[in-house]
Order: sequence, then structure tokens, then C-alpha cells
Amino acid sequence: MKRRYGHDNDRWRVVSGSLLDRTFLETAGQFDIVYCWGVAHHTGYMWTAIDNLVHRVKPGGILVLAIYNDQLYISRAWRRVKQIYRQLPGLVRPLYIFAIGCAVFAKRLAVTSIASLLRLLTFRNPFVPLLNWRAETQTRGMHGWYDLIDWVGGWPFEVARPEVVFRFVRDRGFTLQELTTSVGHGCNEFVFKNNDPEEK
Ligand SMILES: C[S@@+](CC[C@H](N)C(=O)[O-])C[C@H]1O[C@@H](n2cnc3c(N)ncnc32)[C@H](O)[C@@H]1O
Repeated sequence: MKRRYGHDNDRWRVVSGSLLDRTFLETAGQFDIVYCWGVAHHTGYMWTAIDNLVHRVKPGGILVLAIYNDQLYISRAWRRVKQIYRQLPGLVRPLYIFAIGCAVFAKRLAVTSIASLLRLLTFRNPFVPLLNWRAETQTRGMHGWYDLIDWVGGWPFEVARPEVVFRFVRDRGFTLQELTTSVGHGCNEFVFKNNDPEEK
């Protein structure tokens, strides 16, 4: 990204380190905007990672955070699917991914067909559910196969209800400014502002 958009910008520094490494983070400093999309829930210590992040936001600064939605028993089932994937030998993994992909596809096909049928019976355009499905696939930005590998193989994997994340960050002196919740297993997206005691 820097090569493409900011190769001549001396103030754009790219460094690499762990969200769990406090010394690294403290050395990095504090920032007006801290953006962490879909990372803290893959560290294995999500709450420690979020706690580390909030300390990197300057007073009055913004924290942008995306955390997997907790779908209760569905999230537990995905956790199991991911654990099994990790235990499989490398050669078997593509077959496992393929089987999961077929199951996901079959479920989506069934839901879309029922939705189309219901629309047909109520004299509405029955192609809308199909078009929605296609649009979702196209906006993802990565090939379906790699998307599936990324999802099934994505580990560690933690989830949280939006209100739990909200309370955790609020109790560390932040105000929620914007929130988009997920209807499925995607991420809930938050924008928090670090309350500035100097600000009137
Ligand atoms: C789903 S990807 C993030 C997606 C990316 N932010 C985006 O918007 O496209 C999860 C990322 O978390 C990173 N990650 C996992 N553990 C980490 C840690 N302890 N510290 C920093 N990054 C970590 C992984 O390297 C991986 O790139």
C-alpha cells in the first residue's frame, strides 16, 4: 500500500509486531486513530489485545474495531469445525474444506430457493434473493475457495456479543460513536472515541 500510494511520504512508517507485545506497542506510541479490523479475535487473547489497543489511543482519539459476532451455538459449531481442521493432516485438509464448502453452499441454496418461492407466491420479483447472493459473493474481494480456507482455517477464533465489547471499551473511558452489527458470523464494527478530560 505504501509503495503504491505513499512511496515518497516520510511520515508513513510501516512496522510489524504483535498486538500482545506491550513493549512493542508502548514503543510505537499513541495515535489519533487506531484501526484494528478483524485481528484481536485471532490473537488467542482477544480481551488482552483490545485492552492493549485502547491504551494506544490518544485522549480525544478514535478506535475502530471489528470483532466476530457471537452467534452462540452456531459460533460453538464453527469453533469445532475449525478445531477439526487443525487436527487433520495437510493432505486431507482440502477435502475437508471442500465438504464444508458443499454444506455451506447447500444451506445457502435451500434458503435462497425458499425465499425466491415465497416471493413468487406473493407476486414479487423471485430473482432478488439470487441477485443478493451474487452481489455478496462479488463484493467479498477474494476467490470463494480462498475465502473458505481463510474462514475454516482461521485460528485462534474468539467471538463476542456487541454489548460485551461495548461495555469492555466503555469501561476504559471511551464513548461509542458508531456501530454496525452483523446478522451472521461476520464482524460487529465499532467506532469509539477516547474521552478527553480536557475537552469541554
Ligand atoms: C482476518 S486477518 C485481518 C484482516 C485485515 N485487517 C483486513 O482488514 O483485511 C487477521 C490478521 O490478524 C493477524 N494477527 C494474528 N495474531 C496477531 C497478533 N498477535 N498481533 C498482530 N496481528 C495478529 C494475522 O496475521 C492476520 O493477518
